[in-house]
Amino acid sequence: MKDYLTLDDFPIKNQRILVRVDVNSPMDPAGKILDDKRFRGHLPTLRDLEEARVVLMAHQSRAGKKDFTTLEAHARRFSQLLHREVTYVDDIFGSHARESIRAMKPGDVILLENTRFYAEENISRPPEEHAKSHMVKQLYPLFDLFVNDAFAVSHRSHLSVVGFTEVLPSAAGRLMEKEIDSLDMGVRGNEHPSIFVLGGTKADDSIKVIQNVFNRGGVDQVLVTGIVATVFQMASGIDVGEKNREFVKGLDYSGQISIAKDLLDKNPGKIVVPQDVALDKDGERLDVAIEKIPPNLQIADIGLETIVDFSKKIREAEIVVLNGTAGIFEKEKFALGTAEILKAATEAGFSIAGGGHTSAAIEELGLEPKFSHVSTGGGASISYLSGDQLPGIEALKKAASRYRK
Ligand code: 3PG
Repeated sequence: MKDYLTLDDFPIKNQRILVRVDVNSPMDPAGKILDDKRFRGHLPTLRDLEEARVVLMAHQSRAGKKDFTTLEAHARRFSQLLHREVTYVDDIFGSHARESIRAMKPGDVILLENTRFYAEENISRPPEEHAKSHMVKQLYPLFDLFVNDAFAVSHRSHLSVVGFTEVLPSAAGRLMEKEIDSLDMGVRGNEHPSIFVLGGTKADDSIKVIQNVFNRGGVDQVLVTGIVATVFQMASGIDVGEKNREFVKGLDYSGQISIAKDLLDKNPGKIVVPQDVALDKDGERLDVAIEKIPPNLQIADIGLETIVDFSKKIREAEIVVLNGTAGIFEKEKFALGTAEILKAATEAGFSIAGGGHTSAAIEELGLEPKFSHVSTGGGASISYLSGDQLPGIEALKKAASRYRK
């Protein structure tokens, strides 16, 4: 039995349902939504709620950023994808919003204004405190059920994520369920070989994930790429050259080297460090063994031999979890490692990918349909894989224990 409730636990028809979604998306200066992956992720939930009165709550960006804007374009995009009218209401919980909600009929869908326009939304507080806010007090009497389908923002203890679960019966949406089930499969490593491939620039986050998976057990090997690999190469005593040492120092990862060394010592043979790298020599790719890295060239990708070795391990895995790119994917010459690793992952038994850059690369390569699960979460998926408790999910569990009594 799941420790949270789902849409299967509640009546839906004619019900008044408040759904937190996360459609925070890249937008161009003209207000066009550039990527609708997160919208598509919510469609299974919205289809299952077809016979209810559905009010969607969401945020876009953060105060002070250029794309901190209204959700008008988001309502239009939802309408196109759902093939049903999704009405944008330019209010969050004022009288206009409340009147619009009261006037709804079964089958209607409303998208309220950007929740982050309301300052209290953005304060990290426990659910019981958020539940006392004006927003919750004004809105909750209008609903029968709260649904959190916004996995990607569930690492934030924000008002619209955790406030309603205190006062309304609450369920996880379909996307939330899929995120939790898939990421759990990766972390538990129930089938073998089960491997993690961690890259990108956030070495501290990746190291936390490695600590978690080895503490829990179940994962057979971790392959490191990107800056994460450079930190592990330094931890194994490899001379990565002055330029790369300075780069790691500039990212404030000097302290991570001893943690990486400790992990290597305590888990012999389990962390696989690339044995060759591709250097950026005046924009050209220069593949060299790690013993031969010169002082003044930047590591920009994993090397060709590593690509072959890692791809084989990944293809043969029953479960593979990927987070972070292997090199500078934006530069054609250094996109090879990321592209080959992602292609190999589609041949593994079960493939899970997380993180903004990784999913953007998957999308660019057209590989999304071949992955078992591409997480909609950036920060949320890395927190989950690190073993952190996500406030949005914990709030759902708390609501379930109260409801089941
Ligand atoms: C995201 O894009 O990762 C989520 O929507 C959370 O956004 P935030 O980092 O601005 O809280």
